[in-house]
Amino acid sequence: MHRRITGKLVIATHNPGKLDEMRELLAPYGIEAISAGVLGLAEPEETGDSFRANASIKAVAAAQAAKLPAFADDSGLVVDALDGAPGIYSARWAGETKDFSAAMARIERLLQERGATNPEARKAHFVSALCVAWPDDHLEEVEARVDGTLVWPPRGTAGFGYDPAFLPDDHTRTFGEMTSIEKHGLPPLGLGLSHRARAFVKLAEICLDQR
Ligand code: IMP
Repeated sequence: MHRRITGKLVIATHNPGKLDEMRELLAPYGIEAISAGVLGLAEPEETGDSFRANASIKAVAAAQAAKLPAFADDSGLVVDALDGAPGIYSARWAGETKDFSAAMARIERLLQERGATNPEARKAHFVSALCVAWPDDHLEEVEARVDGTLVWPPRGTAGFGYDPAFLPDDHTRTFGEMTSIEKHGLPPLGLGLSHRARAFVKLAEICLDQR
């Protein structure tokens, strides 16, 4: 049985951008989003071997520490020709300085080494895993993806991370060339385009009541 989220929800992230995005997404459902940073919760190590495992490690740690339901996400870019890399290491490929230009260049170098020059050989997808954990260990988990192709050179200055190199299928502009409204394509404007928006739509279906 799925469990509905009501009242307060801890957002298990110390990233202000992600917190703002979740606050916005949750506002229509009357949920009060509290940041793990404000509660002074420690960030657990992401030791899982999948997006789903890492999302649940973060949500469970926050739910246990705060004694409240807690939400966490984990996401990344999966490149087919690179056997799924960078995958769960997507953030780490940008290094301490969070240099995503260097991370995109590294992917491009590896694709060139493998002779991946035509779009068919440059397929990739973003994945978003979302988890809500309750203090009694109940979990709700969803996962979604958006398929596309990697372009070179990267295009656009919007978004973050690998957005400028990612051209979603059936579109002519990269995520880096889209406004965030276009990138996420959430209802009522769309049914979700980005991996995060698609995962959120799934979570809303099973766990949230529209106000
Ligand atoms: P985490 O989910 O915070 O562990 O990190 C996910 C990493 O994957 C980010 O640092 C980005 O590098 C990448 N990533 C995840 N979602 C997106 C996206 O929507 N656009 C671009 N890069 C993303």
